Amino acid sequence: EAELIHKFKGISFTTMSSPELLNSLDAFDAREDDVLLVSYPKSGTHWLAGVITKLYNTPVTLTTPIELGDMSKLEELNQLSSKRIIPTHLDYNMLPQHFKNKKCKMIYISRNPKDTAVSMYHYYRENPNLPTVDTWTAFLDLFLEGDVVCGSWFDHFLSWEEHKNDKNILFLFYEDMKRNLPKIVKEISIFLGINASDEDIQDICKQSSFSEMKKDTEKENSDPSHTVCALTSNRKLIFRKGTVGDWKNHFTPKQNLRFDEVFSEKMKFSKMAKHLTYEF
Ligand code: A3P
Repeated sequence: EAELIHKFKGISFTTMSSPELLNSLDAFDAREDDVLLVSYPKSGTHWLAGVITKLYNTPVTLTTPIELGDMSKLEELNQLSSKRIIPTHLDYNMLPQHFKNKKCKMIYISRNPKDTAVSMYHYYRENPNLPTVDTWTAFLDLFLEGDVVCGSWFDHFLSWEEHKNDKNILFLFYEDMKRNLPKIVKEISIFLGINASDEDIQDICKQSSFSEMKKDTEKENSDPSHTVCALTSNRKLIFRKGTVGDWKNHFTPKQNLRFDEVFSEKMKFSKMAKHLTYEF
């Protein structure tokens, strides 16, 4: 079990992200038309990736996450000739410098961290690449301490929020997608400079429902190029429940109180915190 995880700059990564690759992130060559799809794990990355790839009517390649693999990753991405949609769970500080210099478009998706924690707990239980956790209570402790893969949810969110006024970064919330997907798809389409008609958008929304995406996944054999999470190449682990507020089925009142305390302390200067707490 110890070999599943290693730490790099204080953040836990699975051994599928080699230290050499993590050390060489700044050697990544960005292209002006790259689009980065950024998230903390379990925030709705696959949902968003589904929407984005369906929006384009020109050839695009949805790559595997930047931080997944070994040194061959640099070359693998270099060799793609089409436009690249590149997922990553990296926090802002670890993001390869060239993507920042070239002001590549980036979409950051986040989700109520209580639901994110619950989703991640189940992922820890199902995903053989992650260490064993015995109980929800034990996992919640790790989550609040930031002692989970990809580090602290709070640090991740705050590192990106610092760039909330950057014109090249679009911030999205899982709960907004649940509430009004067509509106968000329209917003994405405008941000990416794609001229999607209302009819296109309706179609995309239909194809991107939880049940449609889950069904599609069960049809195809798990193709590694289809995960956008650095923690698995098994797409079948992704579509669990797809709802807002599942945390209510897991948290005790005491755990909820403690979470709220940590949240208000860590997020006290956050301007975007209110978007994450509709369902608190
Ligand atoms: P749950 O575990 O709460 O069900 P990621 O893609 O970042 O790994 O996030 C996975 C979470 O997004 C899972 O949450 C998954 O069910 C949910 N999800 C995936 N596709 C979805 C969709 N089309 N609609 C709503 N939720 C979706």
